[in-house]
Amino acid sequence: MSNRTFTMIKPDATSKGYTGAILDMMIKAGFSIKAMKWTRLTKEQAGAFYEVHKERPFYGELVEFMSSGPIVAAILEKENAVADFRTLIGATNPANADEGTIRKKYAASVGENAVHGSDSDENAMIEGNFFFSSLERF
Ligand code: RTP
Ligand code: MG
Repeated sequence: MSNRTFTMIKPDATSKGYTGAILDMMIKAGFSIKAMKWTRLTKEQAGAFYEVHKERPFYGELVEFMSSGPIVAAILEKENAVADFRTLIGATNPANADEGTIRKKYAASVGENAVHGSDSDENAMIEGNFFFSSLERF
């Protein structure tokens, strides 16, 4: 079990001014920030990041959306980070997300759902390495 996960605040949430409130929820839930940047993905980068979903019907839409505006990428640390962070963000579709979760509060739809959270320790490592060099983690 690793103590790190990777997150992005997605373009819908940054454009609506939710960045500060979402970061506050993460910090209040006990996650500490090990790396963070405000950036924007090109279509190519968004396509590469979500390559695992290449065969899914929503892939094109997902790549368009994730490259449509700025995001915040971060590596977060907490005991049981991956699982606890998935609990904090809530279900992929905000209509199914529990009260008190980030997606329940800030997500608009299954496509534009405010935040990303890694789904395994292995992917947390891969995704963190996609955005951050060893000099950018503290
Ligand atoms: P994420 O990877 O972004 O944390 O989301 P997730 O694990 O909860 O969901 P996943 O199945 O990995 O899907 C990745 C992202 O693709 C978009 N999506 N759209 N239109 C659709 O039916 C649909 N399904 C998924 C969402 O942005 C989802 O977060
Ligand atoms: Mg996922």
